[in-house]
Amino acid sequence: MKIIMLGAPGAGKGTQAKKIAEKYGIPHISTGDIFRANIKNGTELGKKAKTYMDQGALVPDELTCDLVVDRIQQPDCANGYVLDGFPRTIPQAECLTTALDKLGQKMDYAINVDVPDENIVHRMGGRRACVGCGATYHVVYNAPKAEDICDTCGEHLVLRDDDKPETVQKRLNVYHEQTQPLIDYYEKAGILKNVDGTVDMKDVFQAIVNILGE
Ligand code: AP5
Ligand code: ZN
Repeated sequence: MKIIMLGAPGAGKGTQAKKIAEKYGIPHISTGDIFRANIKNGTELGKKAKTYMDQGALVPDELTCDLVVDRIQQPDCANGYVLDGFPRTIPQAECLTTALDKLGQKMDYAINVDVPDENIVHRMGGRRACVGCGATYHVVYNAPKAEDICDTCGEHLVLRDDDKPETVQKRLNVYHEQTQPLIDYYEKAGILKNVDGTVDMKDVFQAIVNILGE
């Protein structure tokens, strides 16, 4: 099963993508996580990506497309994958469609997690990310057992650099300009499914399972 997660920054794409990956046994491919891992390891790609990410801007398409097209051809993707944070622009979607055509494959679902802007800023301010394993928490909606300590690996939890309110607003603007048009793109492709992302995380996941099947 090949799935794309669509939605504004902070809509809960990552939260749901991880659950989907676990339930259906397919890899979770997050371009944001790939870039953050590269930043942490000080790679050339990481250095380039950081300048855009810190401003709330998108990393250029040419740095992103090849990375994903290469990743989806790895052996662990044979039974499908869930893409989180990619595609994010029409050129990225076209690049993906072209690559899948060449491989004789097609995307099965584009799941749009719908959350209004008002809820987003509040969510991002409460998000905490683990510096060790990248797990995501929320101080109110998904609190760790010990304050600011990761349940999984015991490392510290921090506010992401791009989760400061002024950067969140920029990311939302970028989302509306460049990413929202993908909803139409995948509607026309006949694979768009909308889910209400404002309800409890478990209920969002149940709505997704209802679409994907048990
Ligand atoms: P990326 O890491 O993809 O960030 P994003 O799309 O902005 O999405 P987020 O990770 O912020 O949010 P999410 O929707 O996954 O929400 P989450 O589940 O964490 O990208 C970061 C940057 O990298 C971009 O700005 C760009 O610069 C660059 N980049 C990445 N991909 C790119 C690409 N393809 N092209 C170009 N540039 C790219 O949830 C948010 C919070 O809410 C959490 O605390 C969570 O616990 C909580 N929460 C989740 N669901 C619920 C719920 N139902 N109720 C209450 N709280 C909830
Ligand atoms: Zn951790």
